[in-house]
Amino acid sequence: MSGLLLLFGTLFIVAGAAPSTPIPVPDRNGNLIPRELLFGDSKFAHVMLSPDGHTIGYLAPDENGVRQIFTRCVTCSHTEKISFDGQNNIASFEFTGVPGVILFTQDNDGDENHRLYKLNITRASPPHRPVPISDRPGVKAAVFKNNMRDRRVLVGLNDENPVFHNVYAFDLYTDELSLIFHNKRFPARMMFDNDLNLRIVSELSDDGSVVYYKPSPKANPKKLTSGKEDWVEYMRVSSEDAPLTDPIAFSADNEKVYWKWGLDSDLGQLVVHDFGRPETNQVLYSAQKAEIASLFLHPTEKTVLALTEYYHKPEIFVANQTIIEDMQYLVNLRPADSPMVVGVSRDFHTWLVTYLSDDKPFEFYLYRRWQKKAEYLFSSRSELSGRRLSKMVGFEFRARDGLRLQAYLTLPPTAERKFPADVNGSDPQVVEYARMGLLPERPQKMVLLVHGGPHMRDMFEFSSLNALLADRGYAVLQVNFRGSTGFGKKLRNAGNGEWGRRMQYDLLDGVEFAIRHGIADRRQIAVMGGSYGGYATLVAMSFTPEVFACGVDIVGPSNLITLLETMPPYWMGMYNEMVKSLGADKDDDAGRQSLRSRSPLYYASQVKRPLLVLHGANDPRVKQAESDQFVDELKKNHIPVTYVLFGDEGHGFSKPQNTLAFAGFVENFLGKCLNGASEPFSLGQYNSSATVIADASRPEEPRVSTTTTTTLPPSRFMGQRRAYAPF
Ligand SMILES: *[C@@H]1O[C@H](CO)[C@@H](O)[C@H](O)[C@H]1NC(C)=O
Ligand SMILES: *[C@@H]1O[C@H](CO)[C@@H](O)[C@H](O)[C@H]1NC(C)=O
Ligand SMILES: *[C@@H]1O[C@H](CO)[C@@H](O)[C@H](O)[C@H]1NC(C)=O
Ligand SMILES: *[C@@H]1O[C@H](CO)[C@@H](O)[C@H](O)[C@H]1NC(C)=O
Repeated sequence: MSGLLLLFGTLFIVAGAAPSTPIPVPDRNGNLIPRELLFGDSKFAHVMLSPDGHTIGYLAPDENGVRQIFTRCVTCSHTEKISFDGQNNIASFEFTGVPGVILFTQDNDGDENHRLYKLNITRASPPHRPVPISDRPGVKAAVFKNNMRDRRVLVGLNDENPVFHNVYAFDLYTDELSLIFHNKRFPARMMFDNDLNLRIVSELSDDGSVVYYKPSPKANPKKLTSGKEDWVEYMRVSSEDAPLTDPIAFSADNEKVYWKWGLDSDLGQLVVHDFGRPETNQVLYSAQKAEIASLFLHPTEKTVLALTEYYHKPEIFVANQTIIEDMQYLVNLRPADSPMVVGVSRDFHTWLVTYLSDDKPFEFYLYRRWQKKAEYLFSSRSELSGRRLSKMVGFEFRARDGLRLQAYLTLPPTAERKFPADVNGSDPQVVEYARMGLLPERPQKMVLLVHGGPHMRDMFEFSSLNALLADRGYAVLQVNFRGSTGFGKKLRNAGNGEWGRRMQYDLLDGVEFAIRHGIADRRQIAVMGGSYGGYATLVAMSFTPEVFACGVDIVGPSNLITLLETMPPYWMGMYNEMVKSLGADKDDDAGRQSLRSRSPLYYASQVKRPLLVLHGANDPRVKQAESDQFVDELKKNHIPVTYVLFGDEGHGFSKPQNTLAFAGFVENFLGKCLNGASEPFSLGQYNSSATVIADASRPEEPRVSTTTTTTLPPSRFMGQRRAYAPF
């Protein structure tokens, strides 16, 4: 047994057990929290630490409301704006191994065809002019590997065929781009070692299993192609195990690979084996309660320092004694919240840390390891301080077929809770629910909020949307229905083929649970969600038209056949995975029939209750036509609907003027339907791009037709895990 394995035998929990102590601060005057404080642009988003530990970078709006990159000197607090595009928001940025050089991306109003730029931020030469690495229309650029050390980074571009990404090395000094992998075959799930060599590619076979390949000994590692002769099989992972199996990182010497491993257990393991030789597997950790959610590796030595398991909340397991004191300090600093190390300097002396909390926005700290001391930096939304925000309680319940599901309930901060002494003492389960703070004195108005994906999960964290809904007087129920990730492969795979069926029943069973326990008032429940959650909303409104008082569909698909027909090209390598999830293929008659039978479009005439539909015109994943056709079908049947289109957004809303308008539409709509509170809102208030394409108060008028943007779709495949951009 290796030393690593032994140490894992003495895992040490440092966080997760601490009880949370809510200290609600009363609202000034008991007023509503202004929408602006929750949905205006964050002053500190996408916060990062430079590899030398000297600089913090973040995104924030400039004086004209355009999202720019700012840097802040760690020792002197000097803050500087370093990007100067007066029109387009920055989508993301990263530091590199070359001091003073960063990379950033922008897309075209939500189309996810990211352009990639280099920026030299050395102070001698402002205003800094970005060097385009890829700004070709219709091409989706992404940094595939940045080791924070070399003068090169690896960049993926689907510049030849929209389905496949070639890989280029970009020299940060000379700006030279050279092809290192000519790809006509593999999806963009590639693994590079610490020296920027491509070592692992994978391919989905017809039966849904994933085949991993390593370079053949005969291949030229500097000029790889996707030709058969360049690759040999590494291993094959069954379709059941594949969702839990992933290469994570190479050891410092590039000889071993850490994997998240799905074989032989439901929740998965952390293993390490010699590159290309899975038979030498060593199990480092077996998950106990939920899947491993994150891994903390030393930035240069690549040793495993800690990991988290995430059931209701993340639990941290420290694997290496050298960081025990540091983690203990960070836990003690805020015992009620879970620390998250979001960045470390390459010398490991300086850490950037934040905390997961339901009733506080993200607050950032700089931890200096040699001083064992953290310095408070800033809050992502300091304007919320002093406001009473809602708590989120994780719990579990059983679906109708007995499957155990994890869920979260957020109660309005004003709702009085039952104490254990207030409930039937001979039912221990109910006493436990009361102890957890799950039972309000009176049934509440409630919003069932359905996550996207569907292969994602709801999490415990601060959310502007939850805070808004709770502040307006609604309980929020979030169910990790079957098909969700994070809870093991049985739960994940139990969703296969169950769109519109058991995945939907799980949501309804969650609602019944809330009604049965006096949490929600049956007559005052709305359903809402984005992407898959939008689909679930449309299914709910058309298949079970009496259950919900109203629904809010955000970028949801209405027809599973057209959804498959218009998948982004760079997701084509994963087409079989999508078919497996849906349980049917558009390419055969039985499959089409099955997809049709679960597509709300064909049941639109059954909708009885108010519906709000919101979509971004440039959405590459779920096309605007998914909403158009559903709204047209309602119109044909004289069913009222409000449909709001954002001309400069994609799969979700990102520009602050649009997120504010989105929130305004939603709270006004829910306010009317559930009789909750809402802050006044008028179209035009924020100069958003929102156009009302159909208005429920004018059901007889035809839908306003729009010219759909015809840019080709796209997104690095990895994006699929974030299928619904949260707000
Ligand atoms: C613990 O981490 C340190 C720093 O990476 C490393 O030198 C040491 O070998 C690690 N110990 C084990 C057992 O992995
Ligand atoms: C960045 O700009 C500075 C000042 O003009 C220059 O000295 C340096 O070489 C540049 N760095 C790179 C990587 O281009
Ligand atoms: C209290 O709970 C017990 C056990 O579940 C049940 O038998 C009993 O009927 C309940 N009493 C009331 C008043 O609901
Ligand atoms: C909206 O645009 C108008 C005209 O450009 C401007 O006067 C106004 O201040 C803007 N309002 C907001 C909230 O940005």
